[in-house]
Amino acid sequence: MSAPTIESVHAVLEKVIDPEIRRPITELGMVRSVEVDDDGDVVVGIDLTTAGCPLKDTITRDVTTTVAELAGVTGVHVAMGVMSDEQRKALKTQLRGGTPEPEIPFSKPGSLTRIYAVTSGKGGVGKSTVTANLAVSMARQGLKVGVLDADIYGFSIPRMLGVELPPTKVDDMILPPVAHDVKVISIGMFVQDRRPVVWRGPMLHRALQQFLADVFWGDLDVLLLDLPPGTGDVAISVAQMLPRSEILVVTTPQIAASEVAERAGTIAEQTHQHVVGVVENMSWFEGPDGTRTEVFGSGGGQQVADQLTSTLGYDVPLMAQLPLEVAVREAGDGGTPATISDSAASSPAAAELTNLAAALGTRARGLAGRSLGVTPV
Ligand SMILES: Nc1ncnc2c1ncn2[C@@H]1O[C@H](COP(=O)(O)OP(=O)(O)O)[C@@H](O)[C@H]1O
Ligand SMILES: [Mg+2]
Repeated sequence: MSAPTIESVHAVLEKVIDPEIRRPITELGMVRSVEVDDDGDVVVGIDLTTAGCPLKDTITRDVTTTVAELAGVTGVHVAMGVMSDEQRKALKTQLRGGTPEPEIPFSKPGSLTRIYAVTSGKGGVGKSTVTANLAVSMARQGLKVGVLDADIYGFSIPRMLGVELPPTKVDDMILPPVAHDVKVISIGMFVQDRRPVVWRGPMLHRALQQFLADVFWGDLDVLLLDLPPGTGDVAISVAQMLPRSEILVVTTPQIAASEVAERAGTIAEQTHQHVVGVVENMSWFEGPDGTRTEVFGSGGGQQVADQLTSTLGYDVPLMAQLPLEVAVREAGDGGTPATISDSAASSPAAAELTNLAAALGTRARGLAGRSLGVTPV
C-alpha cells in the first residue's frame, strides 16, 4: 500500500472539530504542517490557540484517530505548537465575523437568536434546574444553545451541567466550555476559590457586558440566561444590553412565592421586555401509590400567570407544572440534567421540561417590545 498524499491528510483533517470553537481545525488555521514519509508515517503540526489549552489531549486524540483511518497510514504523530500573536488576532477577527472589536452579537439588528432570561422572585425555586434542563433538552432537539449563568448569589449551572473545565482565553476572547452540546459561561468560573461574590451594580454590568461580547458564542439558536432572583441590577442590565430578551418566570405554588415572582415579572413593563410565560416548579410530590401531596400548596403558578396577563395586557400562560422528584435533584447534582438522564423516560418532570423546551425552542419570535426598524415620515 502506498503512503497517502499530503492533500488527502489535509482533507481528512477537516473532520476534526475544535471542541470549544466547534469548527474544523483546518478552518481555524490550527493545522501548521503535514508531513508524510514513504512508509506512510504522518506528522501533523498543530497550533493551539493558547499554550495551556485544556483540550490539548482531546485534539491530539481526535487528530490521531482521524488520520489513522486514512488508507496507507502506518503511524500518526502530533507536534503541538502555539499560535503566534498575529495568528491569534486573525482568528479572533474571523470568529467575530470580520469585526476586530467586541460587540454583543445578540443585540445586532439581524440576530435571530432567541433569548430567554429565566427569573424568579426568590432563590431556591428551581430557576437553575429549569434553565439547565431546557438548555440540554433544546440541544438534544437539534438547536444550538448557550447558557449564561448570571446568578452571582448562587451560580449553580456549572455543577448542574457537569462543566469541569474553565473557559479558555484567546487574548481577550473567551471560549466557553461545552457540556452536553451546550456552551456554558458562568459568573462562578471567574470567582477565585468559590468565595462569595459581592459585586456592585457597575461591576456586574461590566461583567455581563464581557460575557456577552467577549465570549465566543458562535451562531446560537437560543441563549438562556439564569438570572439572580428578584429585580436587581442584573435584570436591568440584561434589559439594556439585550432588549429583545424575553422573560420566563419560575415560581412555586406557594402564594407568598408567587407574589414576589409577580414583581419580578412586572419589571418587564418598565423594560419593555416580553414575558413568555410562567413555570410552576415543585407543584406536588407523587407517592409510590400515586397519591399527590401538594407540599408547597397550590395555585401559585396560575396566580402569577393571571396577574401578569392582567398587568401586561397580553396572554402570559402557565406553561408547565413540574412535580417534585428525587430524580430531578439527583440529576442536577450529578451534572446530567433529568431531561437527558437515563431515568428521563420514567420522570414526569423530565417529560414536562422536554415539552417546554420544544415549545420555547420552536416559537417564532414575538414582535412585542421589538423595534420594527421603520421610521415614521
Ligand atoms: N422539581 C424538582 N424536584 C426535586 N428537586 C428539585 C426540583 N427543582 C429543583 N430542585 C432542587 O431544589 C434545589 C434548588 O433548585 P435550583 O434550581 O438551584 O433553584 P434556584 O436556581 O431557583 O435557586 C436544587 O437542589 C434542585 O436540585
Ligand atoms: Mg440558581
